[in-house]
Amino acid sequence: MNPIDIIIKKKNKHELTREEIEYMVNGYINDEVADYQVSALLMAICLNGMTFEETYNLTDVMLKTGDILDFSDVEGIKFDKHSTGGVGDKVTLALLPIVGSLDIKAVKMSGRGLGHTGGTIDKLESINGFNVNLPEDRIYDNLKNIGIAISGQTKNLVPADKKLYSLRDVTGTVDSIPLIASSIMSKKLASGADIILLDVKVGSGAFMKNLDDARLLAKTMVELGKRYNKKVIANITDMSTPLGYNVGNSLEMIEAIKMVKGEIDNDFSKLVIHFSSHIVSLAKNISMDEAEKLVIDSIKSGKAFNKMQEIVKYQDGDVNYILDVNSFRKAKNIILVKSPKEGYVDEIDALKIGEISCRLGAGRLKLGDNIDFSVGIELLKKPGDYVNKDDVLLKIHSNFDDNTTFINDALSAYKFSDKKKDLVLIFDTIS
Ligand code: URA
Repeated sequence: MNPIDIIIKKKNKHELTREEIEYMVNGYINDEVADYQVSALLMAICLNGMTFEETYNLTDVMLKTGDILDFSDVEGIKFDKHSTGGVGDKVTLALLPIVGSLDIKAVKMSGRGLGHTGGTIDKLESINGFNVNLPEDRIYDNLKNIGIAISGQTKNLVPADKKLYSLRDVTGTVDSIPLIASSIMSKKLASGADIILLDVKVGSGAFMKNLDDARLLAKTMVELGKRYNKKVIANITDMSTPLGYNVGNSLEMIEAIKMVKGEIDNDFSKLVIHFSSHIVSLAKNISMDEAEKLVIDSIKSGKAFNKMQEIVKYQDGDVNYILDVNSFRKAKNIILVKSPKEGYVDEIDALKIGEISCRLGAGRLKLGDNIDFSVGIELLKKPGDYVNKDDVLLKIHSNFDDNTTFINDALSAYKFSDKKKDLVLIFDTIS
């Protein structure tokens, strides 16, 4: 076997065997196959796709390059949740304590933000002291004691994905359904959960820009999960507009705290309740209606909020941040951006808002950059809302003195119409 024949085979649209996939992936992580050859293969996959069998083999080969976590000696059902990434997506922050309060367990490995999308781990670090690098014995103890542990990805979880993803990032080969599906599912399968809930985002702020691609990605990932006897459910949800009303680390953490306390009712809280109900329904083998009732009871009774405090305490975080959201660091300037006209808000471009937030310092342009927890964007008007000229559309939380370009860019993210838009939050559920 040699890399050139394998590249040519894919270039000519033929199906690769498991052995050929193994040869390339294992050869790459052992430095026996050159990165320019793997790049060529990735581009051929991007252009010509993969059959389901090839995608399964790629996932399985990647999965077996690292540790597969096993928490089977901790009693109870364990779940995992993954979002393909978006702007203002703080669902995990609220969902973990809600589902955790109903005695369903999770070791949640999450990522840091990169580019216009935020990361759960960064948002949690806006709480003073919150430790996302717990050693394995503490992750295990937290799982046993309180049912939930949150961590950055451990070093040896799918090392093939770490190397391949970095290469895809710089070779224009990220947006391929078989490559995204194998990347996400190898990591989810390695985390040892029984139930996996996938949130496939579609729209300007997401990898998938159209519904057909999002459906195919979701279906591929659900089928991959079934091969491993996992219960997998995928929701396809809107990411043409930021989720909720806040973008930026502290701002999103505060919105998540309010949601868990039952203080808000918006697109974000609806999604959290829907996803939490899916997990509870699968874990307890009950209907969605029964599950939703449990979820809402947990929020109303304060059980979910208690669980949130417990999680923060067990991960060395300052619980005062949860009890009093004024504890979060604030930006020096809060700039009000007013509407240039009257009419219905038709669109807020999620990608543009994510990019502004990143440039304000809430995100990083490359891994390892420092981030500013206090900055971001607070949306006051969302699609469907009617505004008069000079109504405040949004607030920019900034530590810069000159915010002119941020204001102009934020205004360019808004589109107006004289008709109210019909909003869809969840397009499809695939299981
Ligand atoms: N998220 C991942 O983990 N992998 C991809 O390929 C895309 C999004």
